Amino acid sequence: MPLVNIIRGETIPVAPLNVRTPIVKLPIWLVVTWEIIKAVARLVTTYVRHWYATLPITLLTALYVVYGWQRLALVVGGVALVATVWAFAHRPSWLRFGWWPILARVRRLVYRRRWMAAMVTAKLSISYDKRTIIPEIVRVRCRAACDEVTVRMVTGQIPDDFAKASERLAHTFGVRQVKAVPGSTYATVVLVLMRGDALQETVPPLPVPDLPDFTALPIAVQEDGDLYRMRLFGTQVLIVGATGSGKGSVIWSIVRALAGGVAAGVVELWGLDPKGGMELGIGRPLFAKFASRDFAEMADLIEQAAAKAQQRAARLAGRTRQHTPTEDEPLIVLVIDELANLTAYLTERQLKDRIKAALGIVLTQGRAVGVHVVAAIQDPRKEVLPARGLFPTRIGLRLSEPAEVDMVLGDGMRDRGALCDRIPQTQPGTGYVVLEGDPTPMRVRHTYCDDDTVRDMADLYGEPVGGAA
Ligand SMILES: Nc1ncnc2c1ncn2[C@@H]1O[C@H](COP(=O)(O)OP(=O)(O)OP(=O)(O)O)[C@@H](O)[C@H]1O
Ligand SMILES: [Mg+2]
Repeated sequence: MPLVNIIRGETIPVAPLNVRTPIVKLPIWLVVTWEIIKAVARLVTTYVRHWYATLPITLLTALYVVYGWQRLALVVGGVALVATVWAFAHRPSWLRFGWWPILARVRRLVYRRRWMAAMVTAKLSISYDKRTIIPEIVRVRCRAACDEVTVRMVTGQIPDDFAKASERLAHTFGVRQVKAVPGSTYATVVLVLMRGDALQETVPPLPVPDLPDFTALPIAVQEDGDLYRMRLFGTQVLIVGATGSGKGSVIWSIVRALAGGVAAGVVELWGLDPKGGMELGIGRPLFAKFASRDFAEMADLIEQAAAKAQQRAARLAGRTRQHTPTEDEPLIVLVIDELANLTAYLTERQLKDRIKAALGIVLTQGRAVGVHVVAAIQDPRKEVLPARGLFPTRIGLRLSEPAEVDMVLGDGMRDRGALCDRIPQTQPGTGYVVLEGDPTPMRVRHTYCDDDTVRDMADLYGEPVGGAA
């Protein structure tokens, strides 16, 4: 028996069953007609799918053919005029219902053109059973500074897969940054592609509210254009940033948001400035207590705060879960610049231990009873600040290394888009925060109060100097 079969010149290995497609001879006219039908069907599908472009073109062409170019010019001019008037008369609605939907159509085409390549190179396509399945674009929406592309994931993918590939996607689509947010259904993810940069310019100081809302202090502008409002009730705040990253501006933004409360007597700011008063000194009248040179004095202040926290906690136990600040019992906020000077670089062992113990008490017991800490530090490492975990709210400004981002904002936050190490030196006050109920970090820029603004604020809302120093 031969080991191979030779069928019509082809050598085919012997198999239990050899099957070949039968050859059917078709007349040429049938083939041509079939191809024409297919081509027409394709054309119609394209026409219907892109109705937003094809329909107007058809109508305009019909107009031209039937009535001539004058009528065409009249209609085009009329539409342009209406659009212009609308754009000037009510810009928000024009953008929302007129311009952005048009832009979204155009951008959808741009994204679709590079989609396949982008998915494959970002390893977001899935090869399975000799087929390649890629995630699908469901919807494209345009907003002021970003595009939101809703994507149906391939079964088995999770939004984090897209978050991890975000940098690659950003370069592929030529945008500044891409964020991946879980979509409205479990099968979708929304890619937010940031086009421009809303945070390029310095943010001027915000108006001072008469009575601060302690659950929402406006201190910065978010990259989507909204105000970032920080919760102070129930939390402690840590600001981390390399030198020159604008930690001072975060402190002053917070102080400014609280200044109305200082004047009304329901907020007491205690300032600790181990750099000798360099940062907080100009706003001295705003602080009820202030220490800037003597470390023993700073230890005293923190111990006083710890004692206050313990007293209040003992008194309020079982009665309420959130202390309400009053004139008799104001909200106490310890504002500490360069915290590392107190926790790590201090050479006097005894003093350091006292500070650590008292700070631990304030951080753990003060949250619910209105004794808060707002502290700034350059280095987030455990050796420098062992109590890092006791600050539930953390603001990450420019950092020197990628590894520091997760230390500050939490595990996986750099992958989800918190690129603190990439913030340019030319944009101080810019940083990332984690919003309540949102798994992805938000880029913000804090307001900048220059020295004169701080002085004016101190004159207006502070007590004349003379109290406990
Ligand atoms: N929010 C901001 N917007 C614009 N410019 C800012 C902002 N914050 C700070 N700057 C500018 O950056 C400079 C450095 O800021 P700042 O002193 O607050 O940094 P820092 O993080 O406290 O640095 P250091 O660790 O050296 O104290 C400021 O002098 C100011 O000119
Ligand atoms: Mg500083």
